[in-house]
Amino acid sequence: MARQNIYDNETFFSEYRKLREREVNANNLFELPTLFANLPDLEGKRILDLGCGSGERCKDYIKRGAAKVTGIDISEKMLAAAEKENSDPKITYIKMPMEDIGSLKEEFDVVISSLALHYVEDFRGVTESVYRLLSEGGIFLFSQEHPLATCFSGTYDRWTRDENGRKIYANIADYCVERRNDSTWFVEGVQRYHRMFSTIVNTLVNSGFKILKMDEPYPTEELVQKYPEYYDLYHKPDFLFVKVQK
Ligand SMILES: C[S@@+](CC[C@H](N)C(=O)[O-])C[C@H]1O[C@@H](n2cnc3c(N)ncnc32)[C@H](O)[C@@H]1O
Repeated sequence: MARQNIYDNETFFSEYRKLREREVNANNLFELPTLFANLPDLEGKRILDLGCGSGERCKDYIKRGAAKVTGIDISEKMLAAAEKENSDPKITYIKMPMEDIGSLKEEFDVVISSLALHYVEDFRGVTESVYRLLSEGGIFLFSQEHPLATCFSGTYDRWTRDENGRKIYANIADYCVERRNDSTWFVEGVQRYHRMFSTIVNTLVNSGFKILKMDEPYPTEELVQKYPEYYDLYHKPDFLFVKVQK
């Protein structure tokens, strides 16, 4: 199956890094607080981070008491940044597509993946491998682009607006057609995989997992007053979180 490594594209990499360096971005406002709120107790735990990027989260998990963290990523550039900026004796970074984690020989107590699984075609294969790698009772917690976001193909207007240009509806087409969507984000041809919400949940359940919690983060009223552009998230959440247990 296809495995794109877009984060090693020079332009994509530098634009993505600039976005993440901004203090105000959707990651810092919505994704990270929800991820942290859903983390289980990490004290003494063995963690696997799928699509660890430049390793900030791996370092966070060590600070929260994890015994060891294995961060894997498909991108050489992201891992070079991780080694440079977030190395630690308890962290091992491995260049590996997450589709290949079945070859890992270790056991983990917690598997976490932040905003990487929508890049993966074989969601079922990864889910089954995660189940095998987890200890009994182990937790798999991931965020991904929300299915209402991955289903957007870029071939029509994203929003219906009123006469003042205010966004009033998020436009959705072909939600039930699961497919690869190629979009433009910094560069053309960024491949993301659209799966229905039910497919995500059923794949996890069929792999043996028990669903513990799901989250679709949206802003508080105070936050919208400060950053009105995030009112969009009341129409259509951008992120989906799922927390499951073996
Ligand atoms: C949006 S970034 C998130 C990075 C990090 N998890 C964070 O939250 O800061 C997505 C990461 O997933 C990685 N990635 C994409 N497809 C992958 C795959 N098939 N296997 C492993 N990593 C992948 C990318 O290289 C990138 O580092």
